[in-house]
Amino acid sequence: MTTFFLDGQAFDSAEDESVLETLIRSGSSINYSCKKGACKTCLVQHVSGELSAGSQRGLTARLKANHYLCACQCQPVEGLKLKTVFEQDLFVSAQLLERVFLTESVLKVY
Ligand code: FES
Repeated sequence: MTTFFLDGQAFDSAEDESVLETLIRSGSSINYSCKKGACKTCLVQHVSGELSAGSQRGLTARLKANHYLCACQCQPVEGLKLKTVFEQDLFVSAQLLERVFLTESVLKVY
């Protein structure tokens, strides 16, 4: 069993369990979708402690530099400290001016 921390709360991870799997099993509310490192919905931010290899695989240089990682790709290491991400850290607001259906499944937005 490995203990890691998210926003100061301790979580005990079973063997071979990712951070995301532990959080889901523990009933923690965390956003996720693919569980494969593709969608980036499960981003959390590294605070301290050793990161497992692959925790930042596929992230942009900007996300890596700002210490983000995918919870689904991170195998917790004892004492790892993470924090949740605030949407305003990752997204910018925009105004939708127009939308045009190019096909039945393709939408162009302005
Ligand atoms: S759930 Fe999609 S990248 Fe982690």
